[in-house]
Amino acid sequence: MTATLIDGKSFAAGLRQRIAEHTAAMKERGITPGLAVVLVGEDPASQVYVRSKGKQTRETGMNSFEHRLPADTPEAELLALVGQLNEDPAVNGILVQLPLPGHMDEAAVINAIRPEKDVDGFHILNVGRLATGQKAMVPCTPLGSLMLLRDQLGSLSGKNALVIGRSNIVGKPMAQLLLRDSATVTIAHSRTCDLPDLCRTADIVIAAVGRAHFVKGDWIKPGATVIDVGINRTDDGLVGDVDFAAASQVAGAITPVPGGVGPMTIACLLANTLTATARANGLPDPEGLTP
Ligand code: GUN
Repeated sequence: MTATLIDGKSFAAGLRQRIAEHTAAMKERGITPGLAVVLVGEDPASQVYVRSKGKQTRETGMNSFEHRLPADTPEAELLALVGQLNEDPAVNGILVQLPLPGHMDEAAVINAIRPEKDVDGFHILNVGRLATGQKAMVPCTPLGSLMLLRDQLGSLSGKNALVIGRSNIVGKPMAQLLLRDSATVTIAHSRTCDLPDLCRTADIVIAAVGRAHFVKGDWIKPGATVIDVGINRTDDGLVGDVDFAAASQVAGAITPVPGGVGPMTIACLLANTLTATARANGLPDPEGLTP
């Protein structure tokens, strides 16, 4: 391996430490940040994420409120809960775990969350604010990826960045953040022609397609920085969207899976909760937690 390993696990630990310090300072002023997480149904992966979010929220010194609803909950009942959390002054952040059961309209539920409490950054107003350079809540996985990139590269200005994947959760907001940092951004997807050749022109590759080892080693430009957002369960355990063994021989720096972007996502959720709490109380945004 020749590439530098981008240690997201250690970066996230440092970030959580800073968040805990900010939280302690807020608590001294009588403000305790609170995050409400809503899980509908019993999806095993979602249950693992929600448990982990609750644990890390408490470890940081914040209040964690968990709401579990059965899979057959009527949408109106979920909307009523969101309405109640919107009004609750102890709740600064609201996260409704996705995916929701098929009978629910995800967009309607997300857009029912008050934009100021939308710590996922999925509300249509936050999407629009990010796209137009206004103060927004920024989706956690792209925010965490941006922090790792800036830490590794310093300025991203003028770099060719390729985002592979066009999801609302990762691909599109990631592209917006890279653009804000003056990178030259391309978004690739399943219909993109000559993806391997396109990838060979990229100084920065963000792989967010959800397919194990989709990005091959010989697609990587020598010295490029590779951020692997994928978490795929295979017979070989958890693997990313990038063929790590091959890509790490060519790249300048690369995130591992696990231990790369994954730990950054929850750390950024806590960062967003802290930012939302500061804004709700008329305090300045805590340093270094927003783009
Ligand atoms: N499901 C998978 N990732 C996410 C996320 O970042 N936020 C929410 N709410 N649900 C998810």
